[in-house]
Amino acid sequence: MKVTVVGAGNVGATCADVLAYKEIANEIVLVDIKEGLSEGKALDIWQKAPIDLYDTRTIGSTNDYSKTANSDIVVITSGLPRKPGMTRDDLISTNSQIVTGVAENIIKYSPNAIIIVVSNPLDVMTYAAHLTTNLPRTRVMGMAGILDTARYRAFLATELNVSPKDIQAMILGGHGDTMVPLPRYTTVGGIPVTELIAKDKLDAIVQRTINGGGELVKLMGTSAWYAPGSAAAQMVEAIAKDQRRILPVCINLEGEYGIKDCYLGVPVILGKNGVEKVIELQLNDAEKALLETSRKHVKDVMDAFDKMRKA
Ligand code: NAI
Ligand code: 2OP
Repeated sequence: MKVTVVGAGNVGATCADVLAYKEIANEIVLVDIKEGLSEGKALDIWQKAPIDLYDTRTIGSTNDYSKTANSDIVVITSGLPRKPGMTRDDLISTNSQIVTGVAENIIKYSPNAIIIVVSNPLDVMTYAAHLTTNLPRTRVMGMAGILDTARYRAFLATELNVSPKDIQAMILGGHGDTMVPLPRYTTVGGIPVTELIAKDKLDAIVQRTINGGGELVKLMGTSAWYAPGSAAAQMVEAIAKDQRRILPVCINLEGEYGIKDCYLGVPVILGKNGVEKVIELQLNDAEKALLETSRKHVKDVMDAFDKMRKA
């Protein structure tokens, strides 16, 4: 299993490290445009192997995509992160050029790869990668839902003082202020969360989840990387090991949830072919309304991107 991670910054390097440490791939190529950065980080990860006892070969490449040839899975993390005061959508112009250029190189050397996009604004960058590569929608997807759901699960674990392992949850929609956490589909050791936490407290946790990325940007002056890097690695693992995990993933909807031609996070089964199946949940009217708001927001940013690329 050969995996390429493009962008050797905070998220990309973390993702490569998790992939190596957990031996999810036996070969990892880290690519960046900054001279020497990917080579240095790849060497550092390889030098950790005798300590943490893994075999994964990790190599770096400064913008030489021939080294990525025949990758099975590619994770795209290249692009600017948010600074305090910025929304994810503020990154669209710079990051769409970066993601488009990277996707062109990837598809040239790895025409059969499955692509996982991480760069923001996530839903629209997944669209950009899909447009560039022309791969089926099942092979070009975005990572955000696993991260957003992990934040929600972590906040619930803190509130209930229980293990995060026992919290199962689902978040739908775009990666941003319009995401749709679903308390009705949240359980703790099989118990509906609504039986364990009062509504006002649960509402506050949902709101903190929605602002979860911004909370970290405020604290650190840049966006998060440990949870995002691990979340992308979890998607790689589900595909590489054909685990058929049910995870929230950003994909182009083709009629599911009554939505067409829009990239949104929904639960899917992830396996060796990428997205094996989109799962449609039964939503109530309030949840449907929130998903529609999210769809409208993402569609507006997709339209802004379309105007930009046609100009
Ligand atoms: P970073 O600045 O630490 O790393 C980005 C790397 O991309 C840099 O090393 C830069 O040199 C590289 N890069 C820029 N242009 C490139 C090109 N054309 N080819 C190859 N490499 C290139 O940023 P960080 O924190 O790693 O974030 C990366 C992206 O991921 C940002 O857009 C951020 O907003 C996004 N993000 C998305 C999340 C999600 O849930 N989808 C979560 C966290 C971050
Ligand atoms: C996050 O949610 C910025 O999208 C990034 O941390």
